[in-house]
Amino acid sequence: MTQHQRLLIIDFGSQVTQLIARRLRELNVYCEIHPFNSVTDASLREMAPQAVILSGGPASVTQDDSPRAPQAVFDMGVPVFGICYGQQVMMEQLGGSVEAGHHAEYGRAFIAPAPGHKADGIFSGLFDTGREEVWMSHGDRVTSLAPGFEVIGTSPNAPMAMIADETRHFYAVQFHPEVHHTPNGRTMLENFVRLAGFTGDWTMASYKDEAIRKIREQVGDRKVICGLSGGVDSSVAAVLIHEAIGDQLTCVFVDHGLLRLNEGDEVVKMFRDNYNIPLIAADEADLFLGQLEGVSDPETKRKIIGGLFIDVFQKYATQIEGADFLAQGTLYPDVIESVSFSGGPSVTIKSHHNVGGLPEKMGLKLVEPLRELFKDEVRELGRELGLPASFIGRHPFPGPGLAIRCPGEITREKLEILRKADAVFIDQIRKHGLYDDIWQAFVAILPVRTVGVMGDGRTYDFACALRAVNSVDGMTADYYPFTHEFLGETATRIINEVKGINRCTYDITSKPPGTIEWE
Ligand code: XMP
Repeated sequence: MTQHQRLLIIDFGSQVTQLIARRLRELNVYCEIHPFNSVTDASLREMAPQAVILSGGPASVTQDDSPRAPQAVFDMGVPVFGICYGQQVMMEQLGGSVEAGHHAEYGRAFIAPAPGHKADGIFSGLFDTGREEVWMSHGDRVTSLAPGFEVIGTSPNAPMAMIADETRHFYAVQFHPEVHHTPNGRTMLENFVRLAGFTGDWTMASYKDEAIRKIREQVGDRKVICGLSGGVDSSVAAVLIHEAIGDQLTCVFVDHGLLRLNEGDEVVKMFRDNYNIPLIAADEADLFLGQLEGVSDPETKRKIIGGLFIDVFQKYATQIEGADFLAQGTLYPDVIESVSFSGGPSVTIKSHHNVGGLPEKMGLKLVEPLRELFKDEVRELGRELGLPASFIGRHPFPGPGLAIRCPGEITREKLEILRKADAVFIDQIRKHGLYDDIWQAFVAILPVRTVGVMGDGRTYDFACALRAVNSVDGMTADYYPFTHEFLGETATRIINEVKGINRCTYDITSKPPGTIEWE
C-alpha cells in the first residue's frame, strides 16, 4: 500500500472520471478511483483518504435506487469535492434537495463569484477577468441547499453552479472542472487539494524508490520471469524489477516471426548488452508461421498467436528453476473497475493478445509494478530509470505483430516485403522530424496485386497502405495530416526501394468507424 497522502475518487460512472485522476496526478497528488458500489463505511475508514472527490454520473438522485456515497464520506472530517452528480448526491445526503431534469444544460457556460466571494481559498488564482469558462453537462439541478452550505459561484442558467460549506471544506460544482473545456478547472482542483493539506508528494523519483522496496519485499529471495515484448510497458517493468532484485529476474522474449525489421536484435541488444538482464531469446518463428499457414480470418490469427504465445512462454518459463512470480506491465487504466450502467457485456471488436490465464495455469503469483500508473507516467518512470529516449518514445506495437498488418494469408514473402516497406515509411517519418508527433505509424501489405509499369516493363506486384494516426489512448484516433509532398516522396521511395510493391495508398479512416490496425 502506498505511503503517500491519498485522495479517494468515488466513481458514479461518468465518462470522464479518469480525467479527475489525471489532473490530480499532474498535481503530484496520489489518488485512487473506486466505484461507488465497492466502498463501504468500513473500507473507507480503513483506506483513510485525506480527501474525497465524488465524480459525475449518468443517474438521477431523484430516481429510486440511484447511487449514494457511503455516509462516512461526510462524517470522517475530511474535505469533500462533489462534481455534477457528486454535487447532487451531496445535497441529497446532507439535507438539501434536487429537482429532476426539466432544465438540461450541456456545453460551455460562464461562472462568476457570488456577491461577497473573492479570489481566494477555492477561488485562488481564478476570475482574473471576472468570470471563468466551464463545461456543463447535466440534467438535474440543486434547488435547495443543505444546512451549512452557501452559493459561492453562479452562472446565468445555474444559480447554484458552485456551492460550499467552507467550515467543513465541502465544495460542490455543477460543471466539470476535470475536462479540458474548463480551462482553469485544474486550478480549482489544485486549490481544493491545497486546502485539504496535500503537499504534492507523489513524484516519479519517490514512486521508483517505493516500487523497488515493494518488489524486494514481495519477491524475497525467489525468482521472477517477465515476458518482454519490446514495448514500453514491459521494458520499463523489466528494468525496474531488475533494479530491485538483479539476477533473480529472467526475461523471456519470444520472436514469433512477426516482428519488424531488426526488432528482435534491437531488443536483445538493449536488455542483454546494455542492461545485463538475463534474457532468453526464443526463436519460434517456424512454429508460429507454420500454424498460421493458410489462415486468413483475423480472429483465428489472433487466437492462434495468443494460444501459441502462452505455450511457448510456459515452455521457457519452466526452465527457470525457483520462479514463483510472473511480472506484467499492467497499467492503471487496465485495473480501474469502471461503473457500467449499460448492463450487458460489450461486443468483442478484437481479441487482444496478452498472457492472460498464464499465472493460474502455472501457479505463478503476479508482480505488477506499474498497476498504479497511467501510460505517460510509465514513460516518466522509464526516463527516471535511465531508459533511452528513443526506446521510451516508441510507437505502440501490437502483440500479434505484423500478422494483423497482413490481411489475408500470411507468407514469409509478404512479411519480408512488409518489413522493408515499414522501415522506409518510419525512416521517412524520422527524417522529416515527425516521429514524436505521431501516435502510431506503420505499413499494411494488402492482399491484392496490381499492374504497374516500371522502366519499360510491366509489373504485377502487391499494393500497400500507409497508416499514421494521432490518438491519446488508442480508443479513438484520427489520421495524421501529412503533406502531399511527404506522401508523394514516401510512395516513390517505397516503390523504388522495396521489390514486390508497385502501388502505395494512404489510409485516411478515423477510429471509429475504422480501427487503427487493419485486423
Ligand atoms: P485497434 O486496431 O483496436 O488498436 O484500433 C488500438 C491500439 O491497440 C493496439 N493493438 C494491440 N496491442 N495486443 C496489443 O498489445 C493486441 O492484440 C492489439 N491489437 C491492437 C494497436 O496497435 C493500437 O495501438
